[in-house]
Amino acid sequence: MIDLSYKPQIVGEKVVLRPFKAEDLPYIKECLLDHEVIKLTGSTTDFDRDAVIHWYDTRNEQKERLDLAIVDKSLNILVGEAVVNLYDEKNESMNFRILIGPRGRNRGLGTESTQLIIDYVFKNTNLKQLTLGVYDFNPRAKKVYEKIGFVLDSVDKNDLEFEGEWIDSLNMVLTRDHWMKRHV
Ligand SMILES: CC(C)(COP(=O)(O)OP(=O)(O)OC[C@H]1O[C@@H](n2cnc3c(N)ncnc32)[C@H](O)[C@@H]1OP(=O)(O)O)[C@@H](O)C(=O)NCCC(=O)NCCS
Repeated sequence: MIDLSYKPQIVGEKVVLRPFKAEDLPYIKECLLDHEVIKLTGSTTDFDRDAVIHWYDTRNEQKERLDLAIVDKSLNILVGEAVVNLYDEKNESMNFRILIGPRGRNRGLGTESTQLIIDYVFKNTNLKQLTLGVYDFNPRAKKVYEKIGFVLDSVDKNDLEFEGEWIDSLNMVLTRDHWMKRHV
């Protein structure tokens, strides 16, 4: 059993992670329609406004996952999202994913946001590990995850077809033990 019903505000140096608000919508849209985000998250270019509004309206009611807006402190607007989802009771494990739109990338915000949400989740749950998937054509995301302590666990060969090429998906894992060792 996992209880992530409380949605925190987590203040870092460069970012604030906080629950979504209605006024975030234009900034969410900007992130979701960004071509790098679409490519690197394996998403589609469809944007169903009503479905997106419903999705973000209901994130704060979710008990078994944590979805937080990434707010750039220097701009005071949403520039992305950080999510811990897919609770796996048997393995006491959850999945992490992140996306940052064009305004927020390459300034350390992704690294800080990842560290903040992961620290929060390990401190506030009994999970044994966090996992993630990253496409092999995304060296920047891999670098961020390795900096945080995620290590390669397995590879899903030819997981995504992109512009006629097959791309592998790398499954990475960060165990609680490994996370703790990095925090002493
Ligand atoms: C992946 C993502 C979260 C990273 O966040 P970010 O704020 O852009 O990244 P940061 O600035 O914190 O760190 C990027 C690191 O990668 C390095 N980097 C950047 N481009 C790189 C590349 N092509 N190859 C290797 N390393 C690279 C940077 O030097 C930096 O490392 P450093 O701090 O040691 O110098 C963000 O870029 C993003 O959301 N991108 C689009 C969607 C996406 O890829 N989501 C993840 C899907 S798995």
